[in-house]
Amino acid sequence: MMPDTPDTGSKLRIGVLISGRGSNFKALLDATRQPDFPAEIVCVISNKGQAGGLDYAREAGIPAVVVPHTGFSTREAFDIALDEQLRRHKVELVVLAGFMRVLSPEFINRWPDRILNIHPSLLPAFRGLHTHERTIEAGCKIGGCTVHIVRPELDEGPIIAQAAVPVLEGDTPETLAARILEQEHRIYPEAVRLIAEGRVEIDGMIARIRKAAPTPQPLVNPAPRG
Ligand code: GRF
Repeated sequence: MMPDTPDTGSKLRIGVLISGRGSNFKALLDATRQPDFPAEIVCVISNKGQAGGLDYAREAGIPAVVVPHTGFSTREAFDIALDEQLRRHKVELVVLAGFMRVLSPEFINRWPDRILNIHPSLLPAFRGLHTHERTIEAGCKIGGCTVHIVRPELDEGPIIAQAAVPVLEGDTPETLAARILEQEHRIYPEAVRLIAEGRVEIDGMIARIRKAAPTPQPLVNPAPRG
């Protein structure tokens, strides 16, 4: 059994849920290595024993827990096992990073406004799977990614941060996914930082962000001449 993680101070305690390669988890891990980052990753849980992202956790000495969903007869039983692991590690914020299981409303309601997800589209457009294909097929000129608070409805909940990228002529789902992923790795740590610093206030479906920051420039594609 994994030992409990020692309490190392006042940083927000994050539990990351993954199912695969874990590049967003890695981006968060890198962010937490900055001394002034206000959150720490105290455990990583995967529903798949082969998830590549588990290696990043092991290398970093972070408890890496496998809870195989195939070992449970119902979604609720699996979610209870997840919940137990998160509470054992005294997690305060659950961060979904490529976690490919739909969580039950019971689980989500046990973590009110304390579960974050990253989705590779500009929500509320393109909820669900195959977002890059669908963005290209719809002829969108701009795509992107969204960090949001998880609510029981799939890919819905208060939006914390979004990043937009151009969709270029000749893009394939893979080239677009790579361009968006780069931005995912920027906005996920930033969203966690905002929450950990207490700068996010949830008002129904709206997340209000208190942050002194320069006003971003609009992204226009195709860019106007001159
Ligand atoms: C990312 O594209 C994320 O937006 C989506 O699943 C993918 C996970 O990638 N939810 P990784 O495992 O973080 O590399």
